Amino acid sequence: MDFSLSEEHEMIRQAARDFAQNELLPGVIERDENQIFPKEQIKKLGELGFMGMMTDPEYNGSGMDTLSYVIAMEELSKVDASTSVVVSVNNSLVCWGLETFGSKEHKEKYLSRLASGEIIGAFCLSEPEAGSDATSQKTTAIDHGDHYILNGTKNWITNGGTAEVYLVIAQTDREKGHKGINALIVEKGMPGFEIGPKENKLGIRGSDTHSLNFNDVKVPKENRIGDDGFGFKFAMKTLSGGRIGIAAQALGIAAGAYELALKYSKERKAFGTEIANHQAIAFKLADMHTQIEAARHLVYKAAWDKDQGKNYDLSGAMAKLYASQVAMETSVEAVQIHGGNGFVKEYHVERLMRDAKITQIYEGTSEIQKIVISRSILRN
Ligand code: CAA
Repeated sequence: MDFSLSEEHEMIRQAARDFAQNELLPGVIERDENQIFPKEQIKKLGELGFMGMMTDPEYNGSGMDTLSYVIAMEELSKVDASTSVVVSVNNSLVCWGLETFGSKEHKEKYLSRLASGEIIGAFCLSEPEAGSDATSQKTTAIDHGDHYILNGTKNWITNGGTAEVYLVIAQTDREKGHKGINALIVEKGMPGFEIGPKENKLGIRGSDTHSLNFNDVKVPKENRIGDDGFGFKFAMKTLSGGRIGIAAQALGIAAGAYELALKYSKERKAFGTEIANHQAIAFKLADMHTQIEAARHLVYKAAWDKDQGKNYDLSGAMAKLYASQVAMETSVEAVQIHGGNGFVKEYHVERLMRDAKITQIYEGTSEIQKIVISRSILRN
């Protein structure tokens, strides 16, 4: 067993770290406060190959492994989780989903532009009444021969306003249950497709989250991903990989909060010494460091499973469950270590604490991860 990273992986970490410090840190507070989408930053990330990291170079991707992707996600998320969620959704839900299950035409028409970062994509599964209970799709895609007619509403869609390409899950045949669900590629601007108002969120405020309305949208049949009825399996398989990306995001938020707390505790003095010299603070740092290292092992193991062609439903769910819990706990402790300054925006930790919460909710809540984990261990 070898726990060391390759030179290439270390270079990716350094490149992502440099980008986070030089391009994301300046302006991160303002983007958070005013809910400004990181448009320029995403464009640059595309130019550097971070928007289609695992995609084949034939389709403008970087052709890297999942471990490279999680290392990049970890570093970007230490500084700006609003930007890293855009990277995550585009890479692991949209590009990976299209590359793995899309047709050659889908890849040529959409994937090449998505992987280069020229455009970004969105993954549309959640509905007002179908968040965790994902088989209860109310959005319909009725078969009209050479096209589908799409009707319904999707909620909390990351990149909802800024995406050009939307992978939409919808029910075609209700009698067939989840086997009657399809995944369709919908383009921005298709008649009847309306983007709802932007959500005003607790965290990841720089990212762009909207509801979407489909009113008799005509979607050509060639825009269906996979065979008729494959939509639910498409969503589940794609989300299994997406969860590794969100686990890496959570790991990065935890590590970012910890690094700030460590630095602060070595500078700030109280009772005649740096606060790190007080056991009350030192023990907090010890717990944070241990939990982050444990989370990192789970995240990297899930990425390794995926790269080895092994099943990663279980390891991805465990990584997301644990890393998101560590992100929440660590960021709360980082605020505590900062005391009054932790409550102030310029110290960054309050933002990381707000950003951490969503990692326990999106791409499957912690409770959903426990369903996936418990079913897996009880089945085997
Ligand atoms: N891979 C392949 N197939 C899978 C699968 C997987 N990982 N998980 C389930 N399936 C299959 C099952 O085998 C079953 O197929 P068969 O009947 O042919 O065997 C089918 O899917 C239905 O599975 P279940 O009976 O287990 O379905 P369920 O109703 O009990 O739900 C669930 C399972 C795991 C709870 C699922 O509903 C789920 O994951 N819910 C959470 C959805 C979610 O993550 N939403 C997040 C929204 S996306 C988002 O947040 C993106 C963003 O913008 C950031």
